[in-house]
Amino acid sequence: MAHSIITVATMKGGSGKSTLASCLAVHWQLKGSRAAIIDSDPQRTIARLATREKALGGVQVTEDATEDAFKAAQRLVGDYEKVIIDTPGFRSQATLACLGVSDFVLVPVKPSPFDVDRMLDTLNILINGVSGRRPIFRCVLTQTTRESVIAKHIRSELAEAGFPVLDSEMTNRVVYAEAALWGGTPSLIDKSGPAAREIAAIADEVEQICESMIQVRRAASA
Ligand SMILES: Nc1ncnc2c1ncn2[C@@H]1O[C@H](COP(=O)(O)OP(=O)(O)OP(=O)(O)O)[C@@H](O)[C@H]1O
Ligand SMILES: [Mg+2]
Repeated sequence: MAHSIITVATMKGGSGKSTLASCLAVHWQLKGSRAAIIDSDPQRTIARLATREKALGGVQVTEDATEDAFKAAQRLVGDYEKVIIDTPGFRSQATLACLGVSDFVLVPVKPSPFDVDRMLDTLNILINGVSGRRPIFRCVLTQTTRESVIAKHIRSELAEAGFPVLDSEMTNRVVYAEAALWGGTPSLIDKSGPAAREIAAIADEVEQICESMIQVRRAASA
């Protein structure tokens, strides 16, 4: 896959951004792609994880909570195939600038009307474009209970409103927090378990979308 900058963003706090960002980075690193995370959140969630025993499986972590975080991503994307930016749960110039340089944006959303309302602010920014360009984005349902009525409802509401949602979901599992205790993710501590498999499914879907976008761009410029 071509080198890419992937930003995980939503202005709703606690929706699972840092968990998703760390899980994807570790998954890709284990698959043999060099992965880096920019921690642009002043809370330093990812930077702290990286100081624990499993150190996110050797994923490169760069802390930059300044308005220049996007520049750090642009610098790293030459050396790393996947540069993932974890953003804070509030609106900031730094996040807007990161969205502006991203090849792909993931918007995690918990299946609850409160979370969806707050997340719409993020989606409106994406749809209206940042720095004159509209990044490719997908919502991803997080902390879901399989087959729950509310998750199905939110999924169809988002789709009807024109917000694309990944087929794969990140379900509610205690292993995400348990793995984080050791600075790890499910792919590191139980690589064939259900959580590692759902992360792999999300990662594959993201790669497929990025690949097809690259082909569309190539065809357009040919
Ligand atoms: N799929 C999941 N299953 C169970 N717990 C989860 C899952 N995803 C995240 N969590 C837990 O939910 C809490 C919030 O997750 P996380 O810190 O990733 O959210 P965030 O969007 O980065 O928050 P913030 O906006 O504060 O940065 C954490 O305690 C995390 O362990
Ligand atoms: Mg976070």
